[in-house]
Amino acid sequence: MIKEVFLGISGGIAAYKACTLIRLLKKAGIGVKVVLTKNAFEFVTKITIETLSQEPCCFELFANPNEMTHLKSRKLADVFVIAPATANVIAKLACGLADDLLTSSFLAYEGPKLVVPAMNSGMYNNPVTLENIEKLRSRGIEILGPDKGVLACEDVGIGRMVEPELILQKIKVMSYPKLPLQNKKILITAGGTREKIDSVRVITNLSSGKLGHNLAHMAALMGAKVSLVTTCKSALINPEIKDICYVESSEDMYKEVLARMKNIDCLYMAAAVSDFVLKEERLSKIKKQDELVLDFKKNRDILAKVGELKKQQKLIGFCLEDQNLEAAAKDKLQRKNLDYIVANKSEVIGKDIRSVQIYDKSGLVQAIDKADLLEISYQLLKLML
Ligand SMILES: Cc1cc2nc3c(=O)[nH]c(=O)nc-3n(C[C@H](O)[C@H](O)[C@H](O)COP(=O)(O)O)c2cc1C
Repeated sequence: MIKEVFLGISGGIAAYKACTLIRLLKKAGIGVKVVLTKNAFEFVTKITIETLSQEPCCFELFANPNEMTHLKSRKLADVFVIAPATANVIAKLACGLADDLLTSSFLAYEGPKLVVPAMNSGMYNNPVTLENIEKLRSRGIEILGPDKGVLACEDVGIGRMVEPELILQKIKVMSYPKLPLQNKKILITAGGTREKIDSVRVITNLSSGKLGHNLAHMAALMGAKVSLVTTCKSALINPEIKDICYVESSEDMYKEVLARMKNIDCLYMAAAVSDFVLKEERLSKIKKQDELVLDFKKNRDILAKVGELKKQQKLIGFCLEDQNLEAAAKDKLQRKNLDYIVANKSEVIGKDIRSVQIYDKSGLVQAIDKADLLEISYQLLKLML
């Protein structure tokens, strides 16, 4: 568990997003000590940082020479994060320069380190910056991002700082022992499908897609090659997930899963696929009327099809019921040729803390009681090893 973060902020436009990161860390019950470069104060103020972190922030190397401020991070923090990290700071870190409080503290710090680059695409794509980032990575320093998108200078390209919510997620993932997922290929489905009723209406369910997305992020952050087939278009996606496919209906999901499953080591089918579809889809909008009766038929079963086609792949299914959960889970596991099934009660939908049970053909493998989504994801990823 991470209790205390040392956060370095350098002088890039994304420094304003570091304020949100401080808020999120505090909200998660994690203490934050902030150290800034002199240039960072061109972008954020001391009063903002100190109000949000509820701690004095530091920036002067020689302010209190007797206290040796640059050595404090060694004892005080579980992880040292620099977000945003400018091209300039990255270059200094790569060379071991220590000419201000941030770089001196980073050099002295002996624990886990995370650097989150943010800069214009030209600066990022310059071979010297790419080389500097690789140098840091090769020394065991974790790098997160940058992301692609619209940059502050209005260019579109690579260089955006990864969103604060995803930096917090990465910090939490860093507290878990690494799983050997390097180059493992994992396919994850997430979210509730939307089946057309007419040209403007759909039938769907309350699935939030949160567990599938947490699973995808944790796997990608631990080095797996993740394909995420999801209905959740507005969810934040870590740039470590290279193959992301947005779908609406179960028919789209079926096609995308089948197209990918051949080269996959493990499938986590966490999406809530509609059990029913309209017998006959109406092509134009149904007029408002006093009563409406719609005829539904059983939908095609993606999980059963994958279970039928699978060869060496491990297949993990999910089961959600109000009653007789264990019996339903065991039955589904057998019928659909799954390796494991994760059983949930319907009350967990959308929740951040959940209890789940995992079964295999021999019975209960693990009962997870009131754990957060990252902890559940970690336990689920262990199943594929
Ligand atoms: C408006 C403005 C925005 C900038 N944004 C970035 C940025 O996003 N990333 C970056 O690496 N440098 C950026 N720079 C350049 C840095 O501020 C400059 O390299 C500075 O020396 C960095 O100092 P520091 O690394 O000590 O904080 C920006 C400069 C200006 C004037």
